[in-house]
Amino acid sequence: MKSIYIVIMVMIIYSLKFSEQNKPETLKEFLRSHGIYNDDNVDGYDKFGQNTWYPTLKLMKENAPIECGYNQDLYDRTVSFAVIMNRIYQFVTTTYNDRYTYVDVIMYDRLRERYSTKDKHLHLYDGFRVGVNHIIPETLTMGNFKRRLSDLFYGYPLERKKRLQLSLIWQKYKGFTYFSRLLLCCNRFWLVGEFPSTKDGYSIQENHYYDYHALRPTQSFHLVSLSLGNKALNIIHEDGGDAIKIIDFNITTHISSLCYGRHSTQLLRQISATDTCQYSQTFDTMTKSLIDLIQSFNYGFIIFTDLILVSREKNLLLIVDQNLFRTIDQEFPYKIKDVKDFFQCQRKN
Ligand SMILES: *[C@@H]1O[C@H](CO)[C@@H](O)[C@H](O)[C@H]1NC(C)=O
Repeated sequence: MKSIYIVIMVMIIYSLKFSEQNKPETLKEFLRSHGIYNDDNVDGYDKFGQNTWYPTLKLMKENAPIECGYNQDLYDRTVSFAVIMNRIYQFVTTTYNDRYTYVDVIMYDRLRERYSTKDKHLHLYDGFRVGVNHIIPETLTMGNFKRRLSDLFYGYPLERKKRLQLSLIWQKYKGFTYFSRLLLCCNRFWLVGEFPSTKDGYSIQENHYYDYHALRPTQSFHLVSLSLGNKALNIIHEDGGDAIKIIDFNITTHISSLCYGRHSTQLLRQISATDTCQYSQTFDTMTKSLIDLIQSFNYGFIIFTDLILVSREKNLLLIVDQNLFRTIDQEFPYKIKDVKDFFQCQRKN
């Protein structure tokens, strides 16, 4: 009897191995099997299911429809945007009964029909809203996130907006990662969370991680969180410092720094972490002006070729070529725009 069991076990193990080897191997097949096509008209894949970061439009439509993602109230409640493959993700907070605050995401499909690189208009019509906790239930409980978020928004209504930072990225062969950073106290204690998905965007029961981050007692930062497609980074200015640094999500690695152009405050350039900004005008004046500029912004994202930084308080945006963060020492002109001249409710014509 025993040997029959062993034979059956061996057969099962072999058949498992064999089916694993039969998985698609080429990049094209792999991408196709994950609903990622070169043809942008083909979008989503039913097998992903609804509670993933990449449901089909048909499944997305089971969520609450949002006619337009831009009005003053929604703008105030928007924490960040992320653009991935053919989708736009708008993260917003929603407070119920003045007491319980949740993080929702409004998803928009057909990216190409929503952004015009020429006019710099982002058309946020016909989105679908779903609670992030429907995609990742653990976001509510890990580190008591929901209670902490609700208490902070309730207890600090005026400064609630700077308490929460969210990013979403997608990495080939890995899937999506949702990052959250909740400022708990004193401008230096955060609850941070990192929620990776499987390759198909399904986030439940993956290796979620959360922890508490603190700065040294004398440190204080202004932080702009960035969703750069496949990377989540921060632009940081440390109080009293003269550098604008680009730092990883965990705030451990100084990757590079940001400067104005050598001869102009209308240009921006990235320099290596070991370098300092060089200006033809007085260093202090230029530095102070750049710090003032960057401190206006709260979050940033990349859409097509443009990097967008958003200021909630000033209702302004900064738009610059996304190659700014891909090159060292190259200068790029930037534009400042009123948000009303960027977010649009009607269709792109
Ligand atoms: C942040 O730090 C944690 C703990 O060391 C690590 O597991 C995680 O991968 C880091 N995240 C990133 C984006 O580097």
